[in-house]
Amino acid sequence: MTGGTETTVAGFPVRVFNEGGSSRVVVTKPLPGDRWLDILQHAGCRVEVCESPKTILSVGDIAALIGPQCDGVIGQLTEDWSAPLFGTLKRAGGRAFSTYAVGYNNVKVHDATNLGIPVGNTPGVLTDTTAEIAAALALAAARRVVEADKFMRAGNYEGWLPTLFVGSLLQGKTCGIVGAGRIGFSFAKMLVEGHKMDLVYYDLFPQPKLEQYFSAYGEFLKAQGERPVTVRRLETVEAVLREADLVSLHCALDASTHHLIDAAHLRLMKPDAVLVNAARGEVIDEAALVAHLETHPDFRAGLDVYEHEPRMAAGLAECDNAVVVPHIASASLYTRGGMATLAAANVAAVLRGFPAWRDPSDVAPFLEGDVAAMPPAAPSIVNAADLGLALYAP
Ligand code: DGY
Repeated sequence: MTGGTETTVAGFPVRVFNEGGSSRVVVTKPLPGDRWLDILQHAGCRVEVCESPKTILSVGDIAALIGPQCDGVIGQLTEDWSAPLFGTLKRAGGRAFSTYAVGYNNVKVHDATNLGIPVGNTPGVLTDTTAEIAAALALAAARRVVEADKFMRAGNYEGWLPTLFVGSLLQGKTCGIVGAGRIGFSFAKMLVEGHKMDLVYYDLFPQPKLEQYFSAYGEFLKAQGERPVTVRRLETVEAVLREADLVSLHCALDASTHHLIDAAHLRLMKPDAVLVNAARGEVIDEAALVAHLETHPDFRAGLDVYEHEPRMAAGLAECDNAVVVPHIASASLYTRGGMATLAAANVAAVLRGFPAWRDPSDVAPFLEGDVAAMPPAAPSIVNAADLGLALYAP
């Protein structure tokens, strides 16, 4: 993000781009790259980016930034987007909102729908980036990378020993995924192809594309004279937990997945299993996980997300058998830039009266090239159907 002029709005430092723009768009955090700014400016927007050092803005802070007149907002996953803020936006004349995230459990979509406000999100650019962090956590946890790194830096290494930081081998074992959407599929490819793991998965629906992919891969391995990997959909989450040596969670957070992994479910897992969560913290009962880690030293966890972010459950920081990172699964330059592009394209398109893009899983046409030549559509509007928005027909 370069250029713009500095000003103050409701006491917050704000950088303004395209001052004379006809629609006012508030962006609650600076976003990476410049393409998103080009998109909004091309759509005739005056863009006001809040540069407050406060990490999480409150509802009151954002309402103050919205002020008496505002056409659209790009918000963050740390913010409470429900009736009070959507009401403020509506009263200010707001017509468009996009969250800068694919997950939108912090957005009460029905509150926006009730007020006729389309809600955008940013699918399609996080898939491999998020799967890579899940894979990194899986390997780091299984092979005790962080513990060993700390040991080394502390100057404790006195020489090679047969018993030093012995961990678990993933190669050839069983990988389990809970939620076999885009990210789960990508994670499975990394572990099955890279580590020749068998795959078991739980998803509400059978995933024929995924099954065909890994069956064909098994055939390929067989033709090479190697052990063929297998793929199976299991009927329950419990069955996956029992069978897998590595379980990675890739489900959305809703009432049915809140505390999906609790004390009883953890007890079903192998004592030396690895559990990875790069989905949403509330999917795991984190206090129960800490208790399990404390009593099962060979059990390992790799966590990107937490039940009460930004806090971790009491005791988790002391568990050497957990690898913990601060919700960075989407933190690659490609992804964060792409998320900014999609959030801006959502807001710009809605303000220009464009329809919703037909296939939010294929957002490639928005990511590159001249912004003037982008499809005249909003890449992903989650309440498009409820609002009766037209779909883009090229
Ligand atoms: C998302 O977009 O939902 C991710 O959690 C951000 O990393």
